[in-house]
Amino acid sequence: MPTDNLLEAKKAKNDEFYTQYADIQKEINAYLEYDPDVFRDKTILLPCDDPEWSNFTKFFAQNFENFGLKKLISTSYAYESKKYKGPFQMTLFETEAPQFDANKAKTHGKIFILDHDTNQNGRIDIDDLQWEYLEGDGDFRSAEVRKLRDEADIIITNPPFSLFRKFMAWIVEANKKFVIIGNMNAITYKEVFPLIKDNKMWLGMSISSGDREFAVPDDYPLQAAGYRVDETRCNGTYPFKNYIRVKGVRWLTNIDHGRRHQPLQLMTMEDNIKFSRHKEIKGKEYQHYDNYDAIEVPYTDAIPSDYEGVMGVPISFLDKYCPEQFEILGMESSAGYDPEIVGIPRLKNGDARPAINGKTTYARIFIHIRQ
Ligand SMILES: C[S@@+](CC[C@H](N)C(=O)[O-])C[C@H]1O[C@@H](n2cnc3c(N)ncnc32)[C@H](O)[C@@H]1O
Repeated sequence: MPTDNLLEAKKAKNDEFYTQYADIQKEINAYLEYDPDVFRDKTILLPCDDPEWSNFTKFFAQNFENFGLKKLISTSYAYESKKYKGPFQMTLFETEAPQFDANKAKTHGKIFILDHDTNQNGRIDIDDLQWEYLEGDGDFRSAEVRKLRDEADIIITNPPFSLFRKFMAWIVEANKKFVIIGNMNAITYKEVFPLIKDNKMWLGMSISSGDREFAVPDDYPLQAAGYRVDETRCNGTYPFKNYIRVKGVRWLTNIDHGRRHQPLQLMTMEDNIKFSRHKEIKGKEYQHYDNYDAIEVPYTDAIPSDYEGVMGVPISFLDKYCPEQFEILGMESSAGYDPEIVGIPRLKNGDARPAINGKTTYARIFIHIRQ
């Protein structure tokens, strides 16, 4: 059993997972495929980034002209403020700049801005990125980063895991477009699920299963904390010597993409019972919950196309969710929030989870097919 300290350390380490370039590219391409002008004349803010090390700034700076961006802003968080500090090392990029200030290097965040051809080589790219120290440490909750948020049209990042709920609230209160990467569990948060239910937020397109690789500073005892280290990739440059594989990662967004408008191909209830590849379905009957007027559908591909009532489906249904095909009614309340806030269908007897023959099921989302 991990001790509390280890859990804390693990949580803080999750704040320093750096996203791979290819993962960013794949996801952003999905929005561009759906609307080639999605970023045109837009100001994009990349908060909680560390542009000297991370790929979000690199990716958007390299594509500044391609995407027709108006302005790219990214901010980094001060070394001294990080919960988990690797060894401190400055880059030549910082120390050789005229604005370099040894007194601020550890304690101040930085702001990076790209909006014009500073070196006058005829194109706007990463070499035109200008930077300065922020007044404070770059905390996304600070007044100065909040102001940048308010200036931006779109916010894109991999936020610190330990502050995920606060980050979501910060984005939602600003009412901006966003694309962020996080853990699938976030779907059950009260800051997140009501928005998914109301089609104000959805899952991105490029990740729906498996694990993804993230770069981490090289001094984390990740194996001890239970992470799978990718031995074949542990040869990066400082500070990311290690790469780990993380399960349950998803993009969350409110920018449209094509996948979410493709309805799922489903079989009728009769055909499911005849042909389903799942032993729980084939040759059996769909089970009805004891405590709620809905049937249990343990796999998304086993949703019967001709069932008009309420169905309980696994959370992974959201990877396939098409709002024109289904309506989300709620989520079982064991996710730990007040059912009334999210309009969850009330279970009989105040039970937290739907049950079959007295046995509670896994976490379920309640849906029905739109007629
Ligand atoms: C999960 S990492 C992702 C970094 C980068 N966005 C990427 O994906 O490559 C989150 C970053 O947020 C920073 N951070 C932690 N707490 C923060 C806070 N309160 N405000 C701003 N940034 C923070 C961490 O130090 C880390 O650099």
